[in-house]
Amino acid sequence: MPATRRDLPAIMEIEKQSFASPWDSLTMFLAMDDPQGRGTAAWLGRQLVGYCFAHATHDMVHILNLAVRPNCRRQGIARRLLNDLIAFSQGSGRLFVFLEVRTSNGEAKALYAGMGFRQVCTWRKYYQDTHEDAEIMIKGLT
Ligand SMILES: CC(C)(COP(=O)(O)OP(=O)(O)OC[C@H]1O[C@@H](n2cnc3c(N)ncnc32)[C@H](O)[C@@H]1OP(=O)(O)O)[C@@H](O)C(=O)NCCC(=O)NCCS
Repeated sequence: MPATRRDLPAIMEIEKQSFASPWDSLTMFLAMDDPQGRGTAAWLGRQLVGYCFAHATHDMVHILNLAVRPNCRRQGIARRLLNDLIAFSQGSGRLFVFLEVRTSNGEAKALYAGMGFRQVCTWRKYYQDTHEDAEIMIKGLT
């Protein structure tokens, strides 16, 4: 389901539970409003349990944010959100999807690797909060 402004409180709750340096509400709101963006929310019954935000530019789709409610993890929700984004990206003629991930984020790297993303380079000290490196992962869509 597309993420809407009404979903913002639930999304921000998950965001704060998921990241040491979470996005603020304005950043989240702007991602929702991005005409080149795609924001998707995952639901279990009436509860919003995850979301994914991406930005499309030229032949690429850049994954900007992805998180799942802590007590709902390991149920395939992130995989579902990514599969939805990949299908959308293929359908709109994009050639690849890419993202950056903290070197220490083993869970996310396992998720992406399992879905066919491969690591292509490292951006040294990319994250401003901890100066941690980012690994750039790409999945070709052709
Ligand atoms: C990373 C994250 C989005 C995964 O969400 P999830 O819904 O639990 O992931 P899924 O259940 O779809 O997992 C799919 C696969 O990813 C891998 N994976 C996910 N979590 C894992 C973990 N904790 N340890 C090892 N592998 C993991 C597994 O291969 C898993 O498949 P399996 O369960 O059949 O073994 C979630 O842990 C999260 O929100 N983390 C905090 C925010 C974050 O780091 N976001 C990514 C930023 S780049």
